[in-house]
Amino acid sequence: MKIAVVTGASSGLGREYVRQIAKGFPEIEEIWVIARRLERLEALAVEFPQKKIRPIALDLTAPESFEAYRSLLLEEKLEVRILVNNSGCGTFGDFIEAQTASQVAMTQLNVTALTAMASLTLPYMRRGAFLVNISSIASFVPTPGMTVYCSTKAYVQSFSRSLAFELKKEGILALAVCPGPMDTEFLDVAGITGRSKTFTKLPRVDAAKVAEASLRAAAKGKTVYTARFIYKFYRVLAKILPHRLLMHLSRIS
Ligand SMILES: NC(=O)c1ccc[n+]([C@@H]2O[C@H](COP(=O)([O-])OP(=O)(O)OC[C@H]3O[C@@H](n4cnc5c(N)ncnc54)[C@H](OP(=O)(O)O)[C@@H]3O)[C@@H](O)[C@H]2O)c1
Repeated sequence: MKIAVVTGASSGLGREYVRQIAKGFPEIEEIWVIARRLERLEALAVEFPQKKIRPIALDLTAPESFEAYRSLLLEEKLEVRILVNNSGCGTFGDFIEAQTASQVAMTQLNVTALTAMASLTLPYMRRGAFLVNISSIASFVPTPGMTVYCSTKAYVQSFSRSLAFELKKEGILALAVCPGPMDTEFLDVAGITGRSKTFTKLPRVDAAKVAEASLRAAAKGKTVYTARFIYKFYRVLAKILPHRLLMHLSRIS
């Protein structure tokens, strides 16, 4: 059976990936949707009746979740055509003021879980399959005010590009998606809504368009995808200007 796996499918960008895969990938027979909120995942089955949806409630910061996922993969003869590693969170504020637990949990979700999901899934992927790892424009330049977040997303970008290089001979593709600010629950969870002047001013990116265009980019073998001209330009600037200067621009306040 050919399947797609989407983490963080219960809201925002992840939900849009489920929508796009249900619409645009007829060869996928089932979509496994992973997050903590089971009722939200179950609602996806009602929302997208054209595709078999399998809700899987897992907290990806808990190591036992990886064992549970490993066992599910062993249940039947599977081929994973798409893995969207999308579960992620951020926190707004300087590191010195942050709770240790929140910073560690963010690292576990954005880095450890993403790595574990890729590692557990790859043995079930064949030529033409692709991994879509959600990074951020925060990966381009260190972002004071979201120090751990930008560091985790820099990991995701580096991991994806290096993995794409390694996987060339297997014909498996890997893409780092680098969205700018999207109006999703992320902003509330991170404590950004109503508190950050920077975020109020930044142009928004549409989650549905990011999901659709990044899946196309992944299928074409691109390794990094950024939406909107302004953020593509920012990525170019980040390659040519010193980061100690750019950090005055990237600082979140
Ligand atoms: N929104 C932005 O401005 C923005 C910009 C750049 C990049 N991103 C990235 O885009 C990705 C999607 O974020 P979003 O904007 O769609 O935010 P969102 O609406 O808050 O979605 C985050 C998803 O991650 C899941 N999640 C959170 N903690 C989890 C855990 N412990 N275990 C399993 N799943 C967990 C959430 O589901 P449950 O709560 O049900 O577990 C939810 O489905 C993230 O990687 C984020 O870093 C967002």
